[in-house]
Amino acid sequence: MAVTLEVSDLNKSFGGIHAVKDCSFGVEDGSITSLIGPNGAGKTTVFNLINHVIRPDSGTVRFEGRDVTGKMPHRLTRLGIGRTFQVTRTLGDMTVLENMVVGSSGTGVRSMFGSRMLDHEVERAMELLEFVGIAEYAYTNAEALSYGQRKLLEFSAVLMSGPQIVLLDEPAGGVNPSLLTRMVARIRELNANGLTFFIVEHNMDLVMDISDSVIVMAHGEVLLHGSPDDVQSDRRVLDAYLGKV
Ligand SMILES: Nc1ncnc2c1ncn2[C@@H]1O[C@H](COP(=O)(O)OP(=O)(O)O)[C@@H](O)[C@H]1O
Ligand SMILES: [Mg+2]
Repeated sequence: MAVTLEVSDLNKSFGGIHAVKDCSFGVEDGSITSLIGPNGAGKTTVFNLINHVIRPDSGTVRFEGRDVTGKMPHRLTRLGIGRTFQVTRTLGDMTVLENMVVGSSGTGVRSMFGSRMLDHEVERAMELLEFVGIAEYAYTNAEALSYGQRKLLEFSAVLMSGPQIVLLDEPAGGVNPSLLTRMVARIRELNANGLTFFIVEHNMDLVMDISDSVIVMAHGEVLLHGSPDDVQSDRRVLDAYLGKV
């Protein structure tokens, strides 16, 4: 399979902390690839570097062969890289439906100026809310949703722009088992239809169950990149989690 997202020699320091060191890996097109590692390993920083929330000190990010290092998040969205962070940035007093539309590419400014949502946007948003099972809350204030429902909203909002790859930072964190089962089923379904996933997740059962490929980070570096079986049977991975390396 072809590599769709390729990270080469990424480096990022915060003051004296070398959070990401010479990090290189590829995410294969059509795969579910997970990034794991103990707290502080640099996983979220790698996500932020890919999505240009922060700038790398050095290194490149390529998507479909094109250098996208330093491209602004809305440009990346248009190129097909989706990332869940809409809900954490929710503008207070909005319904679930409004959150869906505001999060989608290019509509933010228009919505801010109070224009009406376009019919096709509403239609698409309703389909996606239906797909993740929260359509009944479309006209509810997003703040009234449970934590797990918000995660589902985040997840469906990122699909509004029709991405080719979706980056999920801890999708299962704090989500109850029944909503989690639903989210996993949807991830599998979308993946079966060709959508690539790159996921940071702490729930190891989930990671090992859902992933084609697992990247393990420790101390800012890639320790190992292999199949779930490779990773589970590698002593270095256990040592990293136990803080021995
Ligand atoms: N904005 C920041 N300022 C200073 N230090 C940071 C910042 N973001 C992350 N770090 C540090 O970088 C390291 C990696 O953090 P992070 O990428 O959040 O790890 P993970 O997501 O694997 O838990 C940690 O030591 C963390 O304290
Ligand atoms: Mg993190």
